[in-house]
Amino acid sequence: MSEQTTAGSVSVLGLGPMGQAMVRAFLAAGIEVTAWNRSTDKVDAMVGLGAKRAATVAEALDANAVSVLSLTHYAAMYDVLGQATDHLQGKVIANLSSDSPEKARKGAAWVREHGAEFISGGVMSAGDNIAHPASFIFYSGPQQVFDAHAELLRPLSPPEYLGVDDGLAQVFYQAGLIIFHPWMLAFDQALAVIEKSGHSIDQFLPFALRSAAAYPYFIEDFATAAKAGGWGTLASLKMMDAGAQHIIEASEEVGVDATLSHASQGLWRRAIAASEQAGKAVPVYQLFVGPRD
Ligand SMILES: NC(=O)c1ccc[n+]([C@@H]2O[C@H](COP(=O)([O-])OP(=O)(O)OC[C@H]3O[C@@H](n4cnc5c(N)ncnc54)[C@H](OP(=O)(O)O)[C@@H]3O)[C@@H](O)[C@H]2O)c1
Repeated sequence: MSEQTTAGSVSVLGLGPMGQAMVRAFLAAGIEVTAWNRSTDKVDAMVGLGAKRAATVAEALDANAVSVLSLTHYAAMYDVLGQATDHLQGKVIANLSSDSPEKARKGAAWVREHGAEFISGGVMSAGDNIAHPASFIFYSGPQQVFDAHAELLRPLSPPEYLGVDDGLAQVFYQAGLIIFHPWMLAFDQALAVIEKSGHSIDQFLPFALRSAAAYPYFIEDFATAAKAGGWGTLASLKMMDAGAQHIIEASEEVGVDATLSHASQGLWRRAIAASEQAGKAVPVYQLFVGPRD
């Protein structure tokens, strides 16, 4: 393999919305891309943009020192690389698919057993818009593997190396998604309440954005509180329970599903019950982390 090839070319296996965005980002950065996907129509589309076609997984692995995987989950990695394990020796696999940290660790060990180096990544992007200025990628695994390939991978979004634990990128990635999923659903619930109350989402939107400016304050404040055991006195837990009740009623009065709000009220109520039993405040955070040693 020539020096030029290893510095400026890469294979991408998996061409869902994210894999396609990655191919486009590499090509835009002048990096040669060899693309493979289970469904070949997606390869055709990428070849149309200037990528080279790999007809098989083996061809994709052979084409470059570094292969990026963008698959639904780690189970797909075994299906894909399992087709060509004898082509893994001496290669570098950057698996940027998301999954649980433990599955990433097991996947890393499996790839290394077949003679390849491995690094895991979690793509923190605005959907598949990896060119968005807020997008970045968590990486974890051996630092020398990250250092050797960070510049090649940089067009995908700024890289953030976290540490040697192969599961760490997924710990941080999933922590981000733990925040994002209920936020997305809660935002839809809020918009549904506006609409079903006969009012305009457009009128609400600037205020939603304005309130979002306070999120950094809450992020810092709750992180500080968590390190000290969690947020909430018994009085504030009761206030949140009452608040959750108002949210539920505002939703259900206009026929909007309040499942999420019932779940949050359930947590406030469990914390209140635990506090009353303990005779001191037991913040929700302590329900999550359990007793400390
Ligand atoms: N899209 C986003 O906005 C976004 C943002 C951040 C992170 N991510 C993560 O990035 C990864 C890829 O995202 P995506 O949106 O592109 O996912 P996706 O739509 O699920 O893409 C799936 C890719 O995996 C392939 N695949 C799935 N199972 C397979 C199997 N058993 N064997 C072979 N190929 C298989 C699909 O092949 P076929 O085309 O043949 O079905 C397709 O190429 C995911 O882990 C996702 O969580 C996505």
